[in-house]
Amino acid sequence: MIDLMIRGVNLPDGREDCDIAIVNGSIDKIAPAINATARDEIQAVGCLATPPFVDSHFHLDTVLTYGQPRINQSGTLLEGIALWGELKPQLTIDAIKARAEKLCHWAIARGTLAIRSHVDISDDRLLAVQALLDVRRQFKPYLDIQLVAFPQDGYFRYSGSPVNLSRALDMGVDVVGGIPHFERTMSEGAKSVTALCELAANRGLPVDMHCDESDDPLSRHIETLIFETKRLGLTGRVTGSHLTSMHSMDNYYVSKLLPLMKEADVHAVANPLINITLQGRHDTYPKRRGMTRVKEMLATGINVSFGHDCVMDPWYGLGSHDMLEVAHMGLHVAQMTGTTEMKQIFDAVTRNGARTLGLENYGLAPGCHADLVILQAADIHEALRLKPVRLYVIRRGKIISRTQPATAMLRLGDEIFEVDFSHATNVRSSISCKSPVFRK
Ligand code: FE2
Repeated sequence: MIDLMIRGVNLPDGREDCDIAIVNGSIDKIAPAINATARDEIQAVGCLATPPFVDSHFHLDTVLTYGQPRINQSGTLLEGIALWGELKPQLTIDAIKARAEKLCHWAIARGTLAIRSHVDISDDRLLAVQALLDVRRQFKPYLDIQLVAFPQDGYFRYSGSPVNLSRALDMGVDVVGGIPHFERTMSEGAKSVTALCELAANRGLPVDMHCDESDDPLSRHIETLIFETKRLGLTGRVTGSHLTSMHSMDNYYVSKLLPLMKEADVHAVANPLINITLQGRHDTYPKRRGMTRVKEMLATGINVSFGHDCVMDPWYGLGSHDMLEVAHMGLHVAQMTGTTEMKQIFDAVTRNGARTLGLENYGLAPGCHADLVILQAADIHEALRLKPVRLYVIRRGKIISRTQPATAMLRLGDEIFEVDFSHATNVRSSISCKSPVFRK
């Protein structure tokens, strides 16, 4: 017996009018017009069904602290770090949890079912670690949360970080983090990369570092990260987050760097909303965009995914945790407007992110977890353009979020009609999802 049948959806690979049969929390079959009955059924003819969005880089401990104790006046990364330092003594486990829980609710409603969150360990009380371990446990049935032990104030620059980072890993944090560009010198930064990669190798853990989040083209810690990945046999388990200095690097040097990155299978994570906000703040004009070389990395065969990074915190005052907003910004900043490029951008917030996080059984294929999102849009192009309503969010075959279709009615003179923002030919059906009532 089929538990849930989804009728008539379009898929990210371009297939149209498909049915998806779900049994025991997994996808059983995807085909046109499946001749079978199911316990529950969603009519979503003409709507796009996609695997869930993946946020490859976030900070659940700093989220929703905007304005506490004040707003970042310069808009720079460094003032943001100082501001967070001012707030740290006032943190409580309950307050961190409450903010993180609220964000997780937003994420689920937006169709994001996996988040890799960095957690600041440059605080001897490790309150954020305790809080986010609880949140990870609480949301496990609904949301995959990975935690990265992140020495916000530097691994060597803050003397307590080495001990705290090991303690955090002992407590169950999943990934080793770092921030080499914030260490006191370039050589200290390189040493921190080596020390942290050795720690990860010894413990059998992945690495995800804030790496070269700077406009300084001479910030080249990615080079050391690639070298240590190869030396320590960490191939495929290491991620370089941000990599914004690459925006400003000499083209010749980058032409050497990218093949080395590909060879070591180092994943790259760009954070378009934050990169375009924080980088280039010291420029007059021309003003650099700052985002790393997404298009060139993808052309080299490097796995690139996107993160939201921040929502209403010392570094960024906006956001509602929408990975389509991230993709929309990334598309613009990277100037990836071609049809194939838009598909690559969509991948950066879905399947590429799943690869960065090492998620198993992710995707729309028989045998995969029945985790998917149905959008009020006909295809990827429309999803990126409209950032539409997530009509249904499904986890292991169960509907865990529902949002009513958005409709606007116009009265122009005597005529009253519905506005349709879709460009697709099957416009009407794409916005008329007949769904079962969301039962309590
Ligand atoms: Fe970050």
